[in-house]
Amino acid sequence: MSLEDKFGRQYDYLRISVTDRCNLRCIYCMGPEGIKLLPHQDILTYEEIVRFVEILAPLGIKKLRITGGEPLVRKGIENLIGSLSNIPGIKDVALTTNGQLLAKNLEKLKEKGLNRLNISVDSLRPITYKKITRGGDLNNVLAGIKKALALNFSPIKLNVVLMAGINELEIADFLKLTLDYPLHVRFIEYMPLDNHDTFWLNRYLPLQVVKDRALALGYRLNSYEGLPGNGTAEIFQINKAKGTIGLIHPVSGHFCSTCNRLRLTADGKFKPCLYWDEEIYVREAIGNPQLLTGLIKEGLCKKKEKHLMAESNPDYRSQVNLRSMAQIGG
Ligand code: 5AD
Ligand code: SF4
Repeated sequence: MSLEDKFGRQYDYLRISVTDRCNLRCIYCMGPEGIKLLPHQDILTYEEIVRFVEILAPLGIKKLRITGGEPLVRKGIENLIGSLSNIPGIKDVALTTNGQLLAKNLEKLKEKGLNRLNISVDSLRPITYKKITRGGDLNNVLAGIKKALALNFSPIKLNVVLMAGINELEIADFLKLTLDYPLHVRFIEYMPLDNHDTFWLNRYLPLQVVKDRALALGYRLNSYEGLPGNGTAEIFQINKAKGTIGLIHPVSGHFCSTCNRLRLTADGKFKPCLYWDEEIYVREAIGNPQLLTGLIKEGLCKKKEKHLMAESNPDYRSQVNLRSMAQIGG
């Protein structure tokens, strides 16, 4: 039995948001006041998350990604990762983190079975980093990245949301980083997901600027295949570099036709697509595999062919009820 939608897309990848709490307030994710937090009792327990995955694994889910908010602010997250990586059929457990708490937690996460890491680091300059994250300490992230290199995590991906006038002048520094270290920089187009429409319109940058900058610097870009988990990125490698460069452009060139991912929110809603509002409350069905499977299939049936995030689409604001990434889980 497999998870397939009416457009023939097969699903083997589940992103699980374990909390909506975050120790940062990134400018592209939320306002300075943060988001309205879920009451604790609404957040799925680890037992419920494990049970959910146990039911979905036989349907073809093989890869998991733990997201937030910031997953490392939830207590005992290593135990969840341990339980999930022991579920038959689960081949890969990845984590997306802002890196603030990474260095001190990484060893035990690895022991419990964490395979892969995405670390968000939108600037390599302490002051800009602090401004983007509204208070984060770049040194903490760098310590986490060093620890990940020392522990031989592979691949280690660095997420960089590009914003005009904020970190666009750092493209060269990020490119250079891939020459020297086996780090995989993923430039992400700034998506209009929060309620700061004018901010988005002023800051959005199409990722073509990365290629332009690389060529201007005289780098030869080779296209690159074979990095695990690259459903959505266009990957390049600078000649003789140790790492790679990925461009993730959800806005200007969406990748919906090859989508293989589903989402579970921290409060127990199954979300077939990052963009559309459709969510199915599945918490109550976790104790009943047949009911849960039915709800998931129903959700998949409703999954639309693509999102409408294109900046040229004036309707996008009226089409969706925008939720920040901390609420969706990236
Ligand atoms: N546009 C693009 N990326 C975003 N992220 C969060 N909000 C946005 C947005 N509006 C990214 C974070 C992190 C991942 C979880 O999602 O930078 O890398
Ligand atoms: Fe926190 Fe991630 Fe949102 Fe930044 S983008 S505030 S790290 S949830």
